[in-house]
Amino acid sequence: MQMLFEHLEVAENPLYEKIIDDLLNQQYSIVDDFFNADEVLKLRESILLKYEEDAFKKAAIGNRVNETIEKSIRGDVILWIDEQEQNGAETLFFSKINALVQYLNRTCFLGILHKEFHYAIYPKGTFYKRHLDTFQNDDRRKLSFVCYLNDEDWAPENGGELVIYTDENGVEVEKVIYPFPGRVVVFESQVLEHEVKPVNTKRYSITGWLKTR
Ligand code: OGA
Ligand code: MN
Repeated sequence: MQMLFEHLEVAENPLYEKIIDDLLNQQYSIVDDFFNADEVLKLRESILLKYEEDAFKKAAIGNRVNETIEKSIRGDVILWIDEQEQNGAETLFFSKINALVQYLNRTCFLGILHKEFHYAIYPKGTFYKRHLDTFQNDDRRKLSFVCYLNDEDWAPENGGELVIYTDENGVEVEKVIYPFPGRVVVFESQVLEHEVKPVNTKRYSITGWLKTR
């Protein structure tokens, strides 16, 4: 497999090293408990509060003609997070993200200069069809980052699995990843196609991108 970036072995932080190794070996990484139960709770409170304030809008809708097309592609509602106006939960969120970004830049020369994150809620019955995260014509997106904020008792029957399509020796393989709370999935934005299967129970997450210049 093509190496997408260099990695200076410093081995200071085992968690970050695991993420880097996974990315180099398979172009994605799954980290359970990247956020602990208390952090997930605070972030879920934040998403619920904003949702009640009606701050969310339908994802990526350009105009009315596009609306039905969009709905057949993705049904989530999103809210971009403004890092300049963060609440307590978001401060906590960004401190963890920034620590990871600094480590990646220092040990992998990734050159992450920008980031963008949004909350996402998938109401019952919605999904996000198979896609590549660079389809919005932004080739600065380097790493995609998804963090799940669902209830502790989230069950596989609730649907909403993230499916990542990987290539193993020329054969396409589907990796099925459940959106368990605290779990984070990081993957190469420009390489891996993925989708969100239809959800049976409202599904909460934060999705974002680490971007180069
Ligand atoms: C996206 C996306 C995956 C997920 O928002 O682009 O692919 O598991 N999300 O929520
Ligand atoms: Mn995506």
